[in-house]
Amino acid sequence: MAKIRSQHVCQNCGHVAMAWTGQCPDCREWNTLVEQAAPKPAPKATAGKGGNGRTLPAGTPGQAVPLREVQAARVERLSTGIGELDRVLGGGIVPGSLVLLGGSPGIGKSTLTGMAMANLQAAGSETLYVSGEESAAQVRMRAERLGPAALEVKALAESSLETVLGTIEAERPAVCVIDSIQTMHSSELSGAPGSVGQVREAANALAELAKRLDVAVILVGHVTKEGSLAGPRVLEHLVDCVLRFEGERERTWRTLRAIKNRFGATSEVGVFEMRSGGLTEVLDPSARFVEEATGAQGSVVLASMEGTRPVLVEVQALVSPSELEIPRRVVNGIDRNRLSMILAVLARHARLGLGTADVFVNVVGGVRVDEPGADLAVALAVASAQRGEPLSSPDGRPLACFGELGLTGDLRYVAHADRRVSEAAKFGLAPVIGPRGGERLEGLAPCATVRQALKVAFSGNQTVKPAAAA
Ligand code: TYD
Ligand code: MG
Repeated sequence: MAKIRSQHVCQNCGHVAMAWTGQCPDCREWNTLVEQAAPKPAPKATAGKGGNGRTLPAGTPGQAVPLREVQAARVERLSTGIGELDRVLGGGIVPGSLVLLGGSPGIGKSTLTGMAMANLQAAGSETLYVSGEESAAQVRMRAERLGPAALEVKALAESSLETVLGTIEAERPAVCVIDSIQTMHSSELSGAPGSVGQVREAANALAELAKRLDVAVILVGHVTKEGSLAGPRVLEHLVDCVLRFEGERERTWRTLRAIKNRFGATSEVGVFEMRSGGLTEVLDPSARFVEEATGAQGSVVLASMEGTRPVLVEVQALVSPSELEIPRRVVNGIDRNRLSMILAVLARHARLGLGTADVFVNVVGGVRVDEPGADLAVALAVASAQRGEPLSSPDGRPLACFGELGLTGDLRYVAHADRRVSEAAKFGLAPVIGPRGGERLEGLAPCATVRQALKVAFSGNQTVKPAAAA
């Protein structure tokens, strides 16, 4: 087959170059040039085919109608049979939609998609599982672990994009998994499989086919070491829904999060555990985490929100004298810059200087908390580790808290205080140290500043009235 002409387009500013360079000559961003198929010399004016950013000449005008008159049939979503996955998707897979499932190798992407396909097939939807990474025999071996229903899923071990497209055309499944998008390659492009140009072409072609045939396509994507999907901007713009599957490979916990969702909220999080027979849904994650929480020094329970669901997680800190000129700041499950800010607030507003100490902070269980409400938990865990004093309540139960730290040392209100407090109360963790504001809550020990929160936390009696503690 003749190679089609290709060009290199900057993903940042759209500059088009004939040859690849490390830096875009226009906007000066690095590594943003991506190989793409060049537009045909004299393209026909076909509306709606501009998915590659090609400039099209004006054609015959289309018919614009008021949205009120647009026919929008309510689509029946397809249930994957996995409650947590359906919830994160916003209530199941939308027919004809494109979902990107990202995660590091070995996290369980193939397992999750395999299970979802098995359930869909069992429920009467035709499925197709395209594996570009594993042979059909390997896919079968996984399916055997997942149960008999998984063996009914049609599989295709193929990495040629053209063959895959042809198979989808012929099979017309309701849902199709491409595992993974990075292994797909088109013979029309010279780039290696996994190069951004190839990934983009493959995703574009699959997106076009998905919409045309009303096939829901789940693209499995690997994430790079930095945690972003390879060819991220390209894919994230293109798909309807971006899911990220996270967790530590050594641990059994997995969280599934929507980063983008055209058909639902992005705040939902699903929690899973990897077992021998596949992934099981964890319907009450708090119970597991609180059970493990020790109440030892440097440990505190964070009443956090995972989407609309309150989840109690344990935050641990370790502080030790540093031998390095620039002490270590090691984090797991929280943002590193956030830790720096919290340490600065502690130093300035709580006279807790850690400039010569290594500080390690870990959210137990491989969970990631991406919300400002985690600030106070980090501050308390670090303070407890620094002082060598545990933070448990008088009856020996771990201390629970939440709240955002302001740069002025104030403890700021965060959303869903009521749900956080009642979740903690469910596990006997009351009172909870948290910010003032909003309604008065039973079981909350409200504090105005981080200093006050520390005082209350270390008093061993969290029922102290804030006025008395200040
Ligand atoms: P896999 O889904 O292949 O990960 P990915 O596609 O994200 O690379 O599965 C990863 C791990 O899960 C693998 O090391 C084996 C383990 N596993 C189980 O523990 N139980 C199971 O039932 C299955 C299918 C896999
Ligand atoms: Mg896999």
